[in-house]
Amino acid sequence: MTQFKIAPSILSADFGRLAEEVRAAERAGADWMHLDIMDGHFVPNLTIGPDVVAAVAKATRLPIDVHLMVREPDHLLEAFVAAGATALGVHVEACTHLHRTLSQIRKLGVRPCVVLNPATPASAIEPVLHLVDQILVMTVNPGFSGQKFIAETLPKIRELRTWIDASRRPVDIVVDGGIGPDTIERVAVHGANAFVMGSAFFKSPDYKQFVDGIRGQLAQFTS
Ligand code: DX5
Ligand code: ZN
Repeated sequence: MTQFKIAPSILSADFGRLAEEVRAAERAGADWMHLDIMDGHFVPNLTIGPDVVAAVAKATRLPIDVHLMVREPDHLLEAFVAAGATALGVHVEACTHLHRTLSQIRKLGVRPCVVLNPATPASAIEPVLHLVDQILVMTVNPGFSGQKFIAETLPKIRELRTWIDASRRPVDIVVDGGIGPDTIERVAVHGANAFVMGSAFFKSPDYKQFVDGIRGQLAQFTS
């Protein structure tokens, strides 16, 4: 049976009430918390570091899915694991030694995740697929929440789903960017099973109603 995961991205939460927002997301039925780390180089924006990740991890029992939008992130991996990350995502475009970085994440005892920008083909990660527990397909160009979904990423999601099903390894295919009630069915039908949502989730008036609505939309894809 397909395990769908709903992963609110705290980038769109009220940072002044962050712990409260995280607890509300958990109460609403979220599966993971998604935390976006931006370095001001790989992406133009700057966000949070390990101390804020630790504060979030303290506020919830949910898995902490850390998305590193950081150039050459190797020197930071340990700090984010110590802060409570349970998955660490690194961009194929940002890692010179991707195989080594993903192996290092595995050694640190958390779930390795490889991330692809919209313009990066699936073939870029074929040699490292056996090293990961998650693949994150960016469906916007990383850096900001609230951007428009890029539909040209859909064939790539399907291609990755075909490879993962053939491998028989339980790898999550995550989508991130512009996901919400208007786009979730399209990404699900192409094979995504985990859905990061920033603005759609945190701008909704009632988080529980939002999660229930999304689960209702996904029910048709449960096999
Ligand atoms: C963008 C981040 C996303 C972002 C998604 O670079 O990786 O996680 O928060 O926000 P929405 O869902 O609003 O596109
Ligand atoms: Zn993200």
